[in-house]
Amino acid sequence: MQYGFFDDEAREYVITRPDTPYPWINYLGCDQFYGLFSNTSGGYCFYQDARMLRLTRYRYNNVPTDGGGRYFYLRDNSRDGADVWTPSWMPMKSALDRYECRHGLGYSRISSALNGLTFTQTSFVPIKDNCEIHKIVLTNESNATKNVDMFSFVEFCLWNAFDDMTNFQRNYSIGEVEAEGPRIYHKTEYRERRNHYAVWAVNVPVAGFDTDRESFLGLYNGFDHPDTVFAGKANNSLASGWAPIGSHHIKVELAPGQSKAFVFVLGYCENPEDQKWASPGIINKAPANAMLEKYNSPEAADKALTALNDYWTALLGRFTVSADDKNMARMAGVWNQYQCMVTFNMSRSASYFESGIGRGMGFRDSNQDLLGFVHLVPERARARILDIAATQFPDGSAYHQYQPLTKRGNNEVGTGFNDDPLWLICGVAAYIKETGNYDILEEQVPFDNNEELADSLFVHLKRSFDYTLTHSGPHRLPLIGRADWNDCLNLNCFSKTPGESFQTTANYESGIAESLMIASLFVFIGPDYAEICRRTGRTEEAERADKAVIAMIEAIKEHGWDGNWFLRAYDAMGKKIGSSECEDGQIFIESNGFAVMAGIGLDDGRARKALDSVKEQLDTKYGIVLLQPAYKEYHVELGEVSSYPPGYKENAGIFCHNNPWVTIAETQLGRGTRAFETYTKICPAYREDDSKLRRLEPYVYAQMVAGKDAQNFGEAKNSWLTGTAAWAFVSISQYILGVRPVFDGLLIDPCIPASMKGFSVTRHFRNAYYHITVNNTAGVEKGVASVSLDGKSLDGIVLPVLGDGRTHEVVVTMGAK
Ligand code: GLC
Ligand code: GLC
Repeated sequence: MQYGFFDDEAREYVITRPDTPYPWINYLGCDQFYGLFSNTSGGYCFYQDARMLRLTRYRYNNVPTDGGGRYFYLRDNSRDGADVWTPSWMPMKSALDRYECRHGLGYSRISSALNGLTFTQTSFVPIKDNCEIHKIVLTNESNATKNVDMFSFVEFCLWNAFDDMTNFQRNYSIGEVEAEGPRIYHKTEYRERRNHYAVWAVNVPVAGFDTDRESFLGLYNGFDHPDTVFAGKANNSLASGWAPIGSHHIKVELAPGQSKAFVFVLGYCENPEDQKWASPGIINKAPANAMLEKYNSPEAADKALTALNDYWTALLGRFTVSADDKNMARMAGVWNQYQCMVTFNMSRSASYFESGIGRGMGFRDSNQDLLGFVHLVPERARARILDIAATQFPDGSAYHQYQPLTKRGNNEVGTGFNDDPLWLICGVAAYIKETGNYDILEEQVPFDNNEELADSLFVHLKRSFDYTLTHSGPHRLPLIGRADWNDCLNLNCFSKTPGESFQTTANYESGIAESLMIASLFVFIGPDYAEICRRTGRTEEAERADKAVIAMIEAIKEHGWDGNWFLRAYDAMGKKIGSSECEDGQIFIESNGFAVMAGIGLDDGRARKALDSVKEQLDTKYGIVLLQPAYKEYHVELGEVSSYPPGYKENAGIFCHNNPWVTIAETQLGRGTRAFETYTKICPAYREDDSKLRRLEPYVYAQMVAGKDAQNFGEAKNSWLTGTAAWAFVSISQYILGVRPVFDGLLIDPCIPASMKGFSVTRHFRNAYYHITVNNTAGVEKGVASVSLDGKSLDGIVLPVLGDGRTHEVVVTMGAK
């Protein structure tokens, strides 16, 4: 069953009924100011940091779900007894005559109609500005004049979202506002240490306003029954403590056929410390005035939306796909890249499954998110790399997370995840291959955010590389520390205390638990590290790195092979994990996908065997589960992985993030049909008509789909903020379609189903566009017979760097050479 459809031309997903199986959201904003926006106008917004600078309040895990947003209430006085409804369906769940929500790139548009009155809300964050714009258009489609009261509503958060939910003895006394007709200012804590406030304004005169929640709603009412709206008259309430809100009351008269448009702006404003006040107790409104001046008419709002559209057209023009397979083309060409932008911006901070107050930016997560984003805005990827690297410790280890606002490591979670350091090399290599800019290596970057400890980024990479080498165990394999990529494999934890964090408790430092995942990751990035050394004149270091990689491959072959697949780890007692000797957890996806992706066992048949085992043991119709058999009971020596009921999350869920590793690994073997199959199984567009079971947005990847051991097999959770986005994009763009940046140029090496007759891709690369047409009438899965560039035949499959700002024609013919 479907709840909408893809409008490919408009680059929109169109939701055709409001009661989706879960709120289907979009992200507004792509720079400093962000809004989460559901298909019924739920959600919230923040400036830079969802925890520290949240403008509007949102209650997670609320009943009913998704209560709170930017709401508009309509009251049609021309109707007997005056009809009241919410045109976004929620929060009143109004029975609408028509409803549609279009989620586009950085904007959403909800349109609905009831009794001849149509409503359109276009919501977005303009480029390079710190506000949400909500343009409302009301149209009278009936034959009689309509008299309508429109009320707006937002509820302010007292900035720190965690404190806002917990510290009521203080918070109920500190709320402060100012109201000047259509302009409502939220200024809690401005009197003391804050120099920022929020403004919620509309571009027309108002009949009244409210800024106190209780006055507007009534103490015992929900958002679905605001007394003020039913009474048809605002109270002009001025909040003092309790819960500040912003609500406008606008009276609208519409002749038959007439339309009127209104521009609402919800913005974040800052003043220099010495210019906070206009007069005692009255905030300096200059920044708000300037912002509102810019968006004071529907035309100005439309112009800002056009600029946003142009921005996305240019951005996505850097990688476009055209192919017969519509789902692949729309995902790879539009939605997957769009999600990559969101994961790059948000890391794991704010979604409908991440509260914005827990995890900030992850060291490993953000480095991986970069992989799907670096081709879009390389300069931002570069800045991000430098931020991340600054949270590394001098010994090469790293803070696992850091706050986006302060860019400081998070002490509560600390360090000790032994895979973290290597992901930095992965991120930097991707940046260099994309841009050719080796100069990033010479940037001076602090360690532990301490300028005095600063050294070149190259030294950071070296410390990362060495961290693995200096932390190895009895089988010459890397020590796992608190966990590797799988946060739930907590081999030194041994937790028996309820509620204790599996990730930060390390009460049994065995010093011997080893990870095959880190070993493979080392082999995957090691050659890039060596190559970077070679290309920057560090020949000895390159040779040392090559040797270390060879030694690691030997250790893996000697101690990391179980007969039919790669082992996963050795535990704190030196026992195998992910072996046929185990009762549960005999085979894991990560070590197998990653090992083959790194090229291990391609020479001796083990790679093929490992992937065949993955297919036999782990594959399902919705993707590949993380392990089998699922752990049936809690294992104190394994930690969180065994805490989940079978089939969920890391305990045998389809943890989508790692499926693309198998996809890429399959392309190493040249098995294009199988690679494409593993790609499509987790790709949301292919499950669009299965939305009732899958539940989450068909246009974005989810972190997890319940595995075959779970009651709700096939149901997705944790959409949007997942490393799946970046890796899925890498797998389809670089390995299946095979257009891959390498140090010397753009490599073209597709690996596709034999039945795929061809496709074309336009790729921006180092200041030139390559329009690449791939022709597979030969019906092969892999292999390039010939390449021509601007009509001349090319030796090899690497397109040279042309850098002339022009578009070049490339024709690739697949087949035997
Ligand atoms: C979560 C984390 C990520 C981790 C993964 C597997 O998605 O954000 O860092 O690798 O889970 O445990
Ligand atoms: C839990 C989740 C894992 C996530 C981690 C972050 O362990 O299962 O996916 O990475 O929390 O702290």
